[in-house]
Amino acid sequence: MITGFIGAGNLARAIVIGLLDKRVLGSDELLCASGTGATAQSLSQETGIGLASSRIDLIKRSQTIVLAFKPQHLDTITSEESAVAQNNLVISVLAGCTLESLQAAFPHARNIVRVMPNTPSRISKGVSAFCFQQPPSDEDRQFVENLLKALGTCYEVQESQMHIVTAVSGCGPAVFFQFIDHIAQAAEKRGLEHDLAATLAIETGLGSLQLMQRSNQAPSQLVDEVVSPNGVTHALLTSLADSDWSGIIDTAIEAAVNRSTELSKT
Ligand SMILES: NC(=O)c1ccc[n+]([C@@H]2O[C@H](COP(=O)([O-])OP(=O)(O)OC[C@H]3O[C@@H](n4cnc5c(N)ncnc54)[C@H](OP(=O)(O)O)[C@@H]3O)[C@@H](O)[C@H]2O)c1
Repeated sequence: MITGFIGAGNLARAIVIGLLDKRVLGSDELLCASGTGATAQSLSQETGIGLASSRIDLIKRSQTIVLAFKPQHLDTITSEESAVAQNNLVISVLAGCTLESLQAAFPHARNIVRVMPNTPSRISKGVSAFCFQQPPSDEDRQFVENLLKALGTCYEVQESQMHIVTAVSGCGPAVFFQFIDHIAQAAEKRGLEHDLAATLAIETGLGSLQLMQRSNQAPSQLVDEVVSPNGVTHALLTSLADSDWSGIIDTAIEAAVNRSTELSKT
């Protein structure tokens, strides 16, 4: 059974390396093709997976197809390619491409899976959400979950929840990166060396998130453990509350959900 990647860029590379490292699939069970062929050639050379001579060659040789090019390239799938993809399982990581648009491109697929991964997938620490177009067989569900676990963790959702997922886990890494950067900049401005400021901010973020993940306490209880009445953390949190921090985050999530909804209609 061959799994073929159309698109061999950052995300395809992360999935392929994860699949090989975790021994979910062997290099002889994987194929890739790309637009110019340049990224596919280098992925094939780096990992030992097969290189298809074209997209149609890849589709003919694969039972599962992973779409890992840019969303705008979905429109370049030809009728010949969709006809050859008869009875294939199609897995798409294309941001914002709905099951309806994927089905229009691959009307004869056995089943279609829409996935929303995020950038920590590059180090196998991603979180992906996925939804099937039709109720899957146990075998297909297991296969998809194993493939996505090569990127980190995965959770099944309703397609109607994908806009919220996009706002939370898709955009989320940018929020955390920017938040840590703001903290580091504030520390540097007040006299810490640049590298030390960045390291303290990053390691505090990492340690706090791991503590939250491992603890059975609610986030609010963990906050309470850091705060003492009228103390330093209290002053910091009061300043954030005065700026309506939770309201700012709520409005930002709303903006992302709205934009994702808008984009899915274009
Ligand atoms: N990176 C992430 O963490 C992340 C997170 C969420 C969703 N995604 C989704 O994942 C997809 C891929 O993202 P990426 O970051 O891996 O992009 P990328 O690194 O830019 O790779 C894009 C790939 O598409 C290939 N390509 C270009 N035109 C093509 C065509 N006409 N037919 C077939 N392949 C073509 C490119 O090949 P050549 O350059 O060799 O032509 C390249 O291999 C995107 O749709 C994105 O929405 C990515």
